[in-house]
Amino acid sequence: MKPAGVVVLAAGLGKRMNSSLPKVLHAIQGSSMLQHVLNTLHEIGPQKIVVVVGKNAGDIRRSIKNAGAVSFAVQKDAIGTGDALSKALPSLRGLKETIVVVNGDTPLVSPETIRKFLMLHKKKRNDLSLLSFAAGDPGSYGRIFRNEKGEVLSVIEDRDATTAQKSITEVNSGVYAIEPGVLRMLKEIKLNALKGEFYLTDIVHIAKDRGMKVDAFMIGSEEEFLGVNTLRELEKARELMKKRVIEKWLGKGVYFIDEHSVFLSSDAEIGRGTTIYPNVHIEGDTRLGKGCTIYPNVRIRDSVIGDGAVIRDSTVIENAVVKNRASVGPFAHIRPGSEIGPGAKIGNFVEIKKSVIGSRTKASHLSYIGDAKIGRDVNIGAGTITCNYDGCKKHVTAIGDGVFIGSDSQLIAPVSVGKGAYVGAGSTITRDVPAKALALSRTEQKNVEGWALNRRLKVKSEKLRVKGAKKHKH
Ligand code: UD1
Ligand code: CA
Repeated sequence: MKPAGVVVLAAGLGKRMNSSLPKVLHAIQGSSMLQHVLNTLHEIGPQKIVVVVGKNAGDIRRSIKNAGAVSFAVQKDAIGTGDALSKALPSLRGLKETIVVVNGDTPLVSPETIRKFLMLHKKKRNDLSLLSFAAGDPGSYGRIFRNEKGEVLSVIEDRDATTAQKSITEVNSGVYAIEPGVLRMLKEIKLNALKGEFYLTDIVHIAKDRGMKVDAFMIGSEEEFLGVNTLRELEKARELMKKRVIEKWLGKGVYFIDEHSVFLSSDAEIGRGTTIYPNVHIEGDTRLGKGCTIYPNVRIRDSVIGDGAVIRDSTVIENAVVKNRASVGPFAHIRPGSEIGPGAKIGNFVEIKKSVIGSRTKASHLSYIGDAKIGRDVNIGAGTITCNYDGCKKHVTAIGDGVFIGSDSQLIAPVSVGKGAYVGAGSTITRDVPAKALALSRTEQKNVEGWALNRRLKVKSEKLRVKGAKKHKH
């Protein structure tokens, strides 16, 4: 079931977070709380999503993925949730159907629960429904106040509740289904003197008093409705979200050696049979193929890793592609714009930047490869450096298929090495090397016979002379 429109309230100051970052932009498993809420809403697929934003409207807008699918309404002064919703109304004009309202600080609520809630709301033909839950600790949540017949009369905010009311455990999750008739009553909400805010929850008793059909549905699990007001609650939400993400991948055949030490972005995808060792961070929009092994202390961000690839210890991969069965690391850095070909091997202490590495090519030790196009079956010797920067511009190094680059060579770009060529170890290559040629650019070696022996003898006789001179003095 799809609602016509959904409003996300995200303009609060979040004072209790004690942070300069807008509350709804605090991240959980790599995405902001607001993004999590929006992902859930996109799954439900309403005609319109309106986000009510406050002072930091620009930051919030920029932070959202597919912001084009969302409208924004601005509440300049955060004077309460009732006022916030009223700011969304102009964007909803013309919508004559049910509106769903959700708080932007409730990142764990699931699309299934919202769908079920909306179904109940429609089935019961309510004018206003609240999604409620039984809280182990009702804390700062608004209490659902019912009469002896069980009818919902009002929501009493914690700070306004008497001790007896505080003991009510059925609380408001901040998810509402509202018919247009009730929306029109928003302007009747009065300022709460204690807090100096217009409470959206006051709409409940206003609608009830006007004879509207009001009810609350207790569905879903308590964990889904955790409202994040403090950094402690953010941490709790992070833990719950993490558990959810890990469970999902365990169910899809991913092995974790120690699930507790792994960070997994909620946007990441992982193939079946992949093994993830401790202290691995999979960030952003990363896709790991099937049957990969990711060894300890690896961080992979916004990258695609092919099937059967092996990423060895302490490696960083950012905005890059590693093709099937390639092996990277230990201690490698694959920087943005790089593509490591199928079966290629990038080894110890190798840095690759904006380069394409062909199939089965090997750079096993201590190299810097930047702005390079390297063919298939190339061997890059230990310590090879592409000198890609002349102080002003970056230049390209092109290496053909089957080339052998001897250890400790420098390739001064722009330069190319033709197919099948050899570069002798220790060379500094400044001119293009033709295909199948040998390029060598080091001074010829000179051996001076007996030089070392003569030197030792000289040193020895000098020492004896000094010693003799001292004795003579005493
Ligand atoms: C609110 C509910 C409470 C409910 C709880 C569920 C009210 C008055 N109370 O309390 O009944 O149990 O959520 O988590 O609504 N916001 C604005 N503009 C404002 C103030 C807030 O957009 O002027 C936004 C916030 O960014 C936040 C949401 O509304 O995402 C809820 O505001 P918050 O101050 O966190 O309300 P709670 O005290 O948690
Ligand atoms: Ca809240």
